[in-house]
Amino acid sequence: MLGFFTYILIFSFISPCFCTRLNVGTNNAFISVMQFGARGDGIADDTQAFASAWDSACKAAGMSTLVIPTGRSFRVTKINFSGPCKAKINIQLEGKIVAPSKGAWKLDGTYWISIQNVNGLTLDGNGKGGIDGYGSTWWQCPSCKRPKVLFFHACNDLIVRNLGISNSPQSHVSVNMCNRATFSHISINAPATSPNTDGFDISDSTNILIQDSNIKSGDDCIAVNGGSSFINATRVTCGPGHGISVGSLGRNGQLDTVSDVHVLNCTFIGTSNGARIKTVPGGSGYAKRITFDQIILQNVKNPIIIDQNYNGVEDEATNVQVSFVTYRGFRGTSAGDVAINLVCGPLLGKTSSACRNAHGIARNTIPNVPCLMK
Ligand SMILES: *[C@@H]1O[C@H](CO)[C@@H](O)[C@H](O)[C@H]1NC(C)=O
Ligand SMILES: *[C@@H]1O[C@H](CO)[C@@H](O)[C@H](O)[C@H]1NC(C)=O
Ligand SMILES: *[C@@H]1O[C@H](CO)[C@@H](O)[C@H](O)[C@H]1NC(C)=O
Repeated sequence: MLGFFTYILIFSFISPCFCTRLNVGTNNAFISVMQFGARGDGIADDTQAFASAWDSACKAAGMSTLVIPTGRSFRVTKINFSGPCKAKINIQLEGKIVAPSKGAWKLDGTYWISIQNVNGLTLDGNGKGGIDGYGSTWWQCPSCKRPKVLFFHACNDLIVRNLGISNSPQSHVSVNMCNRATFSHISINAPATSPNTDGFDISDSTNILIQDSNIKSGDDCIAVNGGSSFINATRVTCGPGHGISVGSLGRNGQLDTVSDVHVLNCTFIGTSNGARIKTVPGGSGYAKRITFDQIILQNVKNPIIIDQNYNGVEDEATNVQVSFVTYRGFRGTSAGDVAINLVCGPLLGKTSSACRNAHGIARNTIPNVPCLMK
């Protein structure tokens, strides 16, 4: 016992900051938006209370938990939770955050709720929390500059879970320049007719996992855009919606690269597409090592589709190269005649096709798919 104490004393003597750091690590400040004057009655504007609570949580030492309490509805016009933070932050979002209607919107940007430059953040709804973008007031005006609901920019080691997100005026969750993020038990809900309401839009990010989630939307359930690699979707149910898409890549003559995408054990219900890769003629770059594995389809129009002529002017000199694409274990029903539709650009190198237990018809394809069974 004596020996033990001596050891600690000597250690803190030669390294005084060891003790400080030890104390800081066990601190957990609970900071509620209510302490900063939020009303949570769905009417009052709680924007300033959220901003002040974030400031306080971000500056705290050690860990801090930002509490947005259950049973209340917080109307905010804009949230910008910006780092870097001193604390490791856990946002406990058990109440609802609701957007104002279109007319009451005071927005100077593209995003309603943005979280940026925050590492190690956890955003947990504990199965109660929700974010509602009140998109119905925007959808009649597709040409308006419609805000996106939730934007994560430069957030590494991010965890988002047990959360409902609904009715975005445009796409729901944008993930940009993040490395290592896990989204689980996320429920996204917007009507099939709502324009451009993607579930997840991922760009310039790596090591992203979306799992055990349910996405109903008016556009892609998940869109994997340029600059992304090691992107996984596991046990995601999509529909209504436009499927899980890589792309569109190569818009406006851009160079886009996407690689190592794994879509595993996902279900598509009544979607217009299932597994989709879309590239725009005139662009460059690649989409490679894309795997769709163990996919269940119910009444899906285009279960498997590679469209290299998306939004397209044909006969452009360049296109994004698509290679090493694997479809394995597709089961279910197709709502269209063409279950497998591979519309490849004319400039691809030597390609081939392979099928195992694949039934369907392939037409207009390079390569052709002779292995398909009727
Ligand atoms: C959020 O705040 C940060 C820091 O003040 C700023 O750099 C950034 O542009 C803001 N983002 C948005 C989307 O308003
Ligand atoms: C994605 O799936 C692949 C293949 O199963 C796996 O090797 C990789 O670790 C997964 N990555 C993430 C971020 O889940
Ligand atoms: C995928 O589904 C199969 C069959 O239901 C199951 O055996 C396997 O464990 C699942 N894998 C994942 C990662 O969900």
